[in-house]
Amino acid sequence: MIILGIESSCDETAAAVVEMGEECRILSSKVASQIETHKLYGGVVPEIASRAHTEAISSLTYEALEEAGISLSDIDLIGVTATPGLIGALLVGVNFAKGLAFSSGKPLVAVNHIRGHIAANYFTPSEIPLEPPFFALVASGGHTSLINVKSRTEFETVGRTRDDAMGEAFDKVARVMGMPYPGGAEMDEAAKKGDHKAVKFPEAAIHDDTLDFSFSGLKTAVINHLHRLEMKGEPYIKEDIAASFTASVVSSVLKKLGQAHDRYGFDKLVIAGGCSANSHLRAAAESFCGERGITLSMPAKSLCGDNGAMIAAQAYYEYLAGNISDTTLNAHP
Ligand code: KG4
Ligand code: ZN
Repeated sequence: MIILGIESSCDETAAAVVEMGEECRILSSKVASQIETHKLYGGVVPEIASRAHTEAISSLTYEALEEAGISLSDIDLIGVTATPGLIGALLVGVNFAKGLAFSSGKPLVAVNHIRGHIAANYFTPSEIPLEPPFFALVASGGHTSLINVKSRTEFETVGRTRDDAMGEAFDKVARVMGMPYPGGAEMDEAAKKGDHKAVKFPEAAIHDDTLDFSFSGLKTAVINHLHRLEMKGEPYIKEDIAASFTASVVSSVLKKLGQAHDRYGFDKLVIAGGCSANSHLRAAAESFCGERGITLSMPAKSLCGDNGAMIAAQAYYEYLAGNISDTTLNAHP
């Protein structure tokens, strides 16, 4: 089946054409990032995001079709992110996809963005393709969730952040250190060059037996530490702060994964979302899974952030499960 996937939930307009079936292949994947625009404001400005999606979505979709070497009539299915995200941004993609589906007579499928991030792993090359059941950690700018994936369309969230998302914490600390928005990738690079034992920050954790996360206490501790140094006029080594902060994020996430594994005994773990590109998290997840005999799946770095291919992949499975939308489809933040 050939599927067109459309994504516009936050600050990336994306369109991709994928082929799903025995093999999962990406025929084209186009992403128009708005980062340069939002950088000026230090974060996403929702109204600007909606406008930029409106400007980009049509031509980007046709570029994706062109790059895949197919026309709209060759498409079997249109998938679009309908939740969660910025409402104005989501509505651009949803209305565009509805128009396209209605005018071409193709079926339309609404995709949950978080499910889409997990589905990016169905493209991960491995001898044994990823099959549910498995556990998934989805960490992005808007979400940090631990999900029991029972089938490709049955999900049980067993843990979530109670405050900031992991990416949000990375971005806010990065901003205080003068790194441009979104900051996660630059923090990753800086942390590679620093000493992770330079500063002992508190754990980013909820100290109870739930599988919930919390990043705001750690974020505030790091920001307060930086402000104190600034007030005293003391210089600090950015790389050391980045490494110490990242070490705390990673170790507390791994601790929760350990608790989840003790409780549920899963044998496959998926890491997904923008933060799954983090090299420190990837390395720690690899050794965690190696020690416990868990098979680990992580998307290629190009598929960690928002993209249309992951939406198309999940749309395929939703379609097979009979979850088909019509022109009454609405977006939900
Ligand atoms: O999934 P995504 O592209 O958008 C949302 O659904 O939010 O995730 C974006 C988030 C941002 O917070 C960004 O800083 C973070 O992913 N991110 C990273 C890295 N690359 C992107 N965080 C840590 N390390 C990275 N290498
Ligand atoms: Zn995302």
